[in-house]
Amino acid sequence: MNMPKILLLFAHPHPRKSKLNKRLLQAVADLENVTVKQLYELYPDFQIDVEKEQQALLEHDLIIFQHPLYWYSSPAILKEWQDCVLEHGFAYGETGTALAGKHFLSVITAGSERTSYDPIGRNQFTMEQMLAPFEQTAGLCHMVWQPPRILYGGFNIDKETLDQHCQSYREHLQNYTLETEQ
Ligand SMILES: Cc1cc2nc3c(=O)[nH]c(=O)nc-3n(C[C@H](O)[C@H](O)[C@H](O)COP(=O)(O)O)c2cc1C
Repeated sequence: MNMPKILLLFAHPHPRKSKLNKRLLQAVADLENVTVKQLYELYPDFQIDVEKEQQALLEHDLIIFQHPLYWYSSPAILKEWQDCVLEHGFAYGETGTALAGKHFLSVITAGSERTSYDPIGRNQFTMEQMLAPFEQTAGLCHMVWQPPRILYGGFNIDKETLDQHCQSYREHLQNYTLETEQ
């Protein structure tokens, strides 16, 4: 069976200051079927190369958005990327089927604890509710939404939890199959 080709769109405005995303990226970047695009490095002026990005999407089977949770969403460049790249006629609309059947996975780190993402918690909404715009964007683009990988409690994380999360992220991508991950 062919290994799925994975496109990892990494959005962190200060990767050198990152504790969590830097480690997560290091855990998977060397996998032979993973292509990493560091969006802030590629587009410091936010001038996204739409054609290049669309071509990259066409060449991969699983699209990952990896980023810290910023204001219950992504850092700004990933929004700009969506606004520019997911064009009508390409990603959605009557003839926009370029992404149909591709898998989509959110890989997110959150400062707050899991228990805060709850109707009676400090953040009031579950993470599933917070991520609804991403899920529906994937849906409108006919992509197959995957259960997101969330690392909670980033403000106070211990080394063992981070190591374990990195390891399981690597194993997830190493063993990824398009057939069984529905
Ligand atoms: C501008 C900004 C907004 C943030 N918003 C949230 C948020 O909405 N929810 C949350 O749990 N953490 C939030 N955080 C905390 C980050 O998610 C956390 O510091 C990050 O995931 C740690 O990853 P890193 O070490 O790769 O930077 C925010 C941090 C910043 C700087």
